[in-house]
Amino acid sequence: MAKQRAKLVVGNWKMHGRLGSNRALLEAVAIGAGSLPEQVGVAVCVPCPYLAQAQALLAGSRVKWGSQDVSAHQGGAYTGEVAAEMVLDFGATYAIVGHSERREYHGESAEFVAVKAQRALLAGLTPIVCVGETLAQREAGETEQVVGAQLDAVLKKLADDAAKIVVAYEPVWAIGTGKSATSTEAQQVHAFLRSRLAAQGATVADVPLLYGGSVKPGNAGELFRQPDIDGGLIGGASLVDEDFLAICAAAGEVARGTVGAADATP
Ligand code: 13P
Repeated sequence: MAKQRAKLVVGNWKMHGRLGSNRALLEAVAIGAGSLPEQVGVAVCVPCPYLAQAQALLAGSRVKWGSQDVSAHQGGAYTGEVAAEMVLDFGATYAIVGHSERREYHGESAEFVAVKAQRALLAGLTPIVCVGETLAQREAGETEQVVGAQLDAVLKKLADDAAKIVVAYEPVWAIGTGKSATSTEAQQVHAFLRSRLAAQGATVADVPLLYGGSVKPGNAGELFRQPDIDGGLIGGASLVDEDFLAICAAAGEVARGTVGAADATP
C-alpha cells in the first residue's frame, strides 16, 4: 500500500481580506480546525499587513500562518520588500514562494524563486514552493519539462536542505478558473514530482506535495485520496470558512481512512 504521509491544507488568501472581516474567518478556522484528526495540518498564508492579526487570533490553535512571498534579500535598501525574518517575527511557519502569479506578473525566474526558498529556510520558515505549467505548455506536452525545471532549480540551490520544503503543484490553467485538474491528471504530475524528489534521496522523497487549483469541498476528497497528493493549497475557497473547513475535513477523512485501512491490513 502507498506510503502514508500526513495531510496539509494551506489557504492562500492572495490580495484579499480586511482587518474587520478577517477576524470572523480566522476565528472560525481556528475553532473548526480543533476537531480535525492530528494527521492534518492547517495553515493560512495572509497578506503581510495581517500577519500580526493572524498571530493574535491563531496562536494556541491548530492553525499555523505564513506569508505569500518573501524578499530574495536578507535586508537593506529594497523599498516595498518584506524580508523572511520579518515574517518570522510574527510567529509565521510558512512562506509561499514561486506562485505562478509572482512568476507571471513579477517576472520571477526559477533561479530567483530558488533564492527566495533559500532565504525563507535560512530565516526559519518552511517555503511552500509552487510549480505549474500553463495551458499552452500542457497542450504542447511540456508539463513535466516545465515543472521539473522549476523544481530542479530549487533542489539544486537547497542541496541538503531540500527535505525541509513543501512543494505545491498548481497548474496555471486550474487557478481561479473553477476547472480543477482531474485527480488522475494531478496524480500523474505528483508522481513525476515525487520521482524527481526521490532522486535526491530518501528524506527528500517524503517532502509534502500539495495540489492547488480550484480545490473545492466537492473535489477535495477525490484529490486527497491520490497516493502522491498530500494536501492542498487553496485560493478562493480559503476565504469562506465553511468551504475551507470542509476541505480540511476531507483531508481528515482521507487521513483517518488511510490509517484505518492500514490497521486492517494483516
Ligand atoms: P484557487 O483555489 O482560487 O483556484 O487558487 C489556487 C491558488 O492559486 C492557490 O495558491
